[in-house]
Amino acid sequence: MYQKSLIILKPDAIQRRFVGKIIGRFENAGLKIHAMKFGIMSTKKFRQHYAEHIDKPFYKSLEKYVTSNSVIIFILGGCYAIDKIRLMAGDTMPGKALPGTIRGDFAHQQRTETPGDEMPPPLMNLIHASATIEEAENEINIWFSPNEISDYSMADDAFHGL
Ligand code: CMP
Repeated sequence: MYQKSLIILKPDAIQRRFVGKIIGRFENAGLKIHAMKFGIMSTKKFRQHYAEHIDKPFYKSLEKYVTSNSVIIFILGGCYAIDKIRLMAGDTMPGKALPGTIRGDFAHQQRTETPGDEMPPPLMNLIHASATIEEAENEINIWFSPNEISDYSMADDAFHGL
């Protein structure tokens, strides 16, 4: 089943020079880039994208982290792309992410929280990827208009069952 997912390479992925390595993994997995943007996320778009986390204790520090510097936002498509990409990204918590996953191989962050901190340090986990089909549709609509999304064939589509 062909699916599209919304991916964000967060500021730490760019500042630590992991862009090529991460996108290379997605290309090797047979995923296709349908759209891509680079820039600093506005607070307004951040709030739309992360609306479900607004009441979480980490929301403020997440906003500061994700809007602090440029991000790369893109749409990847492929066979069962949503679950595939989440597996490739690894556990949200870098300390729990398995070796071989993006977070398990590159994030490694040990976070120290002081109880009662007004703004605990952010969990720097390099990447965001849509969790479900509904979330992917909603996130794609937040970041891209239909005329910014390209559908095209790849030389190896047949190899990937497309
Ligand atoms: P992401 O996949 O972008 O989706 C929500 C983000 O919230 C997540 O990655 C983390 O960056 C952040 N997040 C989730 N859980 C926690 C947590 N327990 N503490 C701090 N940040 C978190």
